[in-house]
Amino acid sequence: MEKEGHVVLYRKYRPTTFGEVIGQDHVVTVLRNALKLDRVAHAYVFSGTRGTGKTTLARLLAKAYNCENLSKDGEPDNKCDSCINFASGKALDLIEIDAASNRGIDDIRDLRESVRFSPMHAKRKVYIIDEVHMLTKEAFNALLKTLEEPPAHAMFILATTELERVPDTILSRTQSFEFRRIAQDKIRERIREILKKEKYKLDEDGTSLVTFLADGSMRDAESMLGQLMDAYPEGADKDALENLFGLPKLSSVHELLHAALAKDPKTIVELLASILERGLDPKMLSRLLVHESRTLFLTLLSPKVFDDLKKDISEDHAKFFEDHKDTPRKDAELLLVKLLESHNKGFRGAFQELPVELALLDVSVRD
Ligand SMILES: Nc1ncnc2c1ncn2[C@@H]1O[C@H](COP(=O)(O)OP(=O)(O)OP(=O)(O)O)[C@@H](O)[C@H]1O
Ligand SMILES: [Mg+2]
Ligand SMILES: [Zn+2]
Repeated sequence: MEKEGHVVLYRKYRPTTFGEVIGQDHVVTVLRNALKLDRVAHAYVFSGTRGTGKTTLARLLAKAYNCENLSKDGEPDNKCDSCINFASGKALDLIEIDAASNRGIDDIRDLRESVRFSPMHAKRKVYIIDEVHMLTKEAFNALLKTLEEPPAHAMFILATTELERVPDTILSRTQSFEFRRIAQDKIRERIREILKKEKYKLDEDGTSLVTFLADGSMRDAESMLGQLMDAYPEGADKDALENLFGLPKLSSVHELLHAALAKDPKTIVELLASILERGLDPKMLSRLLVHESRTLFLTLLSPKVFDDLKKDISEDHAKFFEDHKDTPRKDAELLLVKLLESHNKGFRGAFQELPVELALLDVSVRD
């Protein structure tokens, strides 16, 4: 039973106030101002990559708008009947529609029918339509009619990861916000908070690795932490993380970079063979290579970058950059450019490991 607690880490840590939302300041500020000035629009589009707070902010906006005790800075009190209702997910005036499974014209007709009725308790009825890009053309047209003449007592929040699939006619009738990937330092900080609250130990390198793997998505970070806590209830480190997710060891990644810079193609070929033999993910290997070579390049350009970095990584990890601080900049740059090129070629079809191998070898045989 206890295990399940960790699986839902990302629900447990869903922000309940605007102040708890990390990143997305450009959205949060505008929404809070609109709430304070009572100028909340009738329709919003929240777009952007997965796990960055779209659904979270949609629900927060719905709750805050209907709060009976909104604070001066636009925060819901989370205590009034309305807030409690909205937070429980049982508010009759909050209608969440998953457009991925309700894509058709009939679904939107039902919505248009229900929109006509006033809210039961709330100031406004709120419709959150998730994955809105999945609607059929006819359904979009029907929705458009509602957005053209939205009843004063309703609000629409459309969320999507694929903004380009939402028709312009819809966008022009809404206020649109693009959610950004969350900055690494913000994700790292939140991970540390969660570790503290959960009384769970993960070392600095492990924390950095989760931050890196999350790639801007707080939900991904939280679900990785959850899996880690289930697999290693006593605490974990970078090695545990590498085991759990089948990642190549950071030390192997560093050895490969070293071999390329030291013009040692033999080692590259042998090392790669032994890494891939273990069935590790070539894409993950490639991402780590790009990441570490980029860091190396940046530390060569600026000692300050390196000083800042040292605070967040282990001595072992820092030692790689220390050991390579005399690398000619143009070598480091070439390595980064080649690895990035090969990474961007993608990982489809057979011989997925080949582009990485060629990139490393290419650098290692130049003089
Ligand atoms: N900006 C953020 N600040 C704090 N926590 C966040 C943020 N974004 C996401 N999270 C965490 O991730 C979980 C999922 O976020 P949310 O459902 O809002 O993502 P989403 O953008 O709607 O993703 P998707 O596109 O997959 O639907 C939240 O419950 C929360 O724990
Ligand atoms: Mg969502
Ligand atoms: Zn309230």
